[in-house]
Amino acid sequence: MVRIRIENISFAYRKVNVLTGLNLDFHQGRFTAIIGPNGSGKSTLLKCINGILKPQCGTLFFDGKHHNLFTRKELARLMAYVPQQEQQVFSSTVYETILLGRKPYISWAPSSKDYQIVNRVIKDLDLDNIALEYINELSGGQRQRVFIGRALAQQPQILLLDEPTANLDLKHQLEVLQLLKGLCNRNIMVIIAIHDLNLAAKYCDDLIMLNNGQLFASGDRSVLNQDNIKQLYSVDVKIIEDDNEMMILPLNPAQTVNLTK
Ligand SMILES: Nc1ncnc2c1ncn2[C@@H]1O[C@H](COP(=O)(O)OP(=O)(O)OP(=O)(O)O)[C@@H](O)[C@H]1O
Ligand SMILES: [Mg+2]
Repeated sequence: MVRIRIENISFAYRKVNVLTGLNLDFHQGRFTAIIGPNGSGKSTLLKCINGILKPQCGTLFFDGKHHNLFTRKELARLMAYVPQQEQQVFSSTVYETILLGRKPYISWAPSSKDYQIVNRVIKDLDLDNIALEYINELSGGQRQRVFIGRALAQQPQILLLDEPTANLDLKHQLEVLQLLKGLCNRNIMVIIAIHDLNLAAKYCDDLIMLNNGQLFASGDRSVLNQDNIKQLYSVDVKIIEDDNEMMILPLNPAQTVNLTK
């Protein structure tokens, strides 16, 4: 049973509070979307969960165990993280990059099981035709899928992805979210930051709305209502619900920006 409990965490970069008094619970097999305006703290929250950032106050528990009690290797087997933008892109091939995801399991050399897992991931993410290409020569979306692949090869119980579909074309957006949903059905916990409210409504079980580093609302997709969206983004929307589908249409006309001024 995998659980994450976040108790009263606050985080500040150089004394500026970015997350304030957050209390959250995440559960095994659930697909959670963190949504909120630019700068609301989504990436910071994912980095605090992953341990890249240490909150100044508050505590994180994984399965009831304080996060400080996990070794780096234990954490790497428990949790994988795909950042919003990968900072370091080395000139390694797609195959080599995905094989890196097996690092927490390899003591000397990769086993046939490690290669099997990498091959599976390459197939699942539609990367067969570029497996031997160098990742610094790929398009943004191709590279994004490679980093998702590296996280999948890690076979974590908790998968954190920061805007995993931001660079992807329509087909790959749907395929990646479908794949993540499939992982939840196999009891993995998936947490993503995402701006596309329609995709969040379609695929995610739980939604967490952040505003200025504070919890604004949380629950199922019913939190994506006109009032909440208006308060959070200052945008009027129309919501169309049909059987099990829901569509959010923005109504505000785009504001005209006078570039000549
Ligand atoms: N390394 C940093 N140093 C100082 N301030 C930072 C740093 N990273 C983020 N911030 C600030 O923290 C706040 C939250 O940033 P964060 O990246 O968590 O937002 P976000 O919700 O992920 O936004 P976006 O939707 O644009 O990705 C912002 O005001 C940002 O300027
Ligand atoms: Mg972000």
